[in-house]
Amino acid sequence: MKILITENYDKMSETAFSFVKEIITEKPDAVLGLATGSTPIGLYALMVRDHEQNGTSYKGIKSVNLDEYVGLSADNEQSYAYFMNYHLFDKVDIDKNNTHLPCGTAEDKKAECRRYNELLKTLVPDVQILGIGSNGHIGFNEPGTEKDSVTHVVNLTENTIKDNSRLFDRIEDVPRQAFSMGIKNILASKKIIVMASGENKAKAVRAMIEGPVSSACPASFLREHNDVVVVVDKAAGKLIK
Ligand code: GLP
Repeated sequence: MKILITENYDKMSETAFSFVKEIITEKPDAVLGLATGSTPIGLYALMVRDHEQNGTSYKGIKSVNLDEYVGLSADNEQSYAYFMNYHLFDKVDIDKNNTHLPCGTAEDKKAECRRYNELLKTLVPDVQILGIGSNGHIGFNEPGTEKDSVTHVVNLTENTIKDNSRLFDRIEDVPRQAFSMGIKNILASKKIIVMASGENKAKAVRAMIEGPVSSACPASFLREHNDVVVVVDKAAGKLIK
């Protein structure tokens, strides 16, 4: 694991962007593994700016996202599909047919997990962007999720529902379940960039880097991958020895 501690959120975003830019420049048909949440918004804004100012093209790029809330459709403002369109896909020249997320409204959830797992076999990310939950989750792989897990339906923990409720009008509106890639899917990516910002992530960041490799902190499994870059701001990195 390579660990980069940056001055603030903006520098964290710029550092992550420099890795992404290198990949899409070298490989215009790269597969990007993408994440949602507040953390990567700055990175996506830099990708959009670079597209607008420098003409970096996403025409050949494909993407797979980590997760989606069960029950939310792509036109629901709280869905991750909506988030990705809003922050990135609508603002660059990517072909939307090449962007993939689990379908939140799939009627047969087991079949949807199978479909996504099959898709991930053909679309292996050249780089996977990750945030981290304050309880150490990656994607929606909550504590207790094992290393060999693949795309599955997750019952979200109270901690995650509370953390994510800030983006909903009422906590009751936060879906109780989500589709998520498993740890095994995430570890299949060629490169992984984990981003974290703010003091409320400091304990999870320390557990990921210095704690035991265990399902108690799903992010700790990333230490078993050979190309992981952790980019955190000072506040999120303050407990790292
Ligand atoms: C959600 C997402 C994760 C994300 C995490 C942190 O639970 N499923 O992929 O990393 O939140 O979000 P934020 O970046 O908003 O702190």
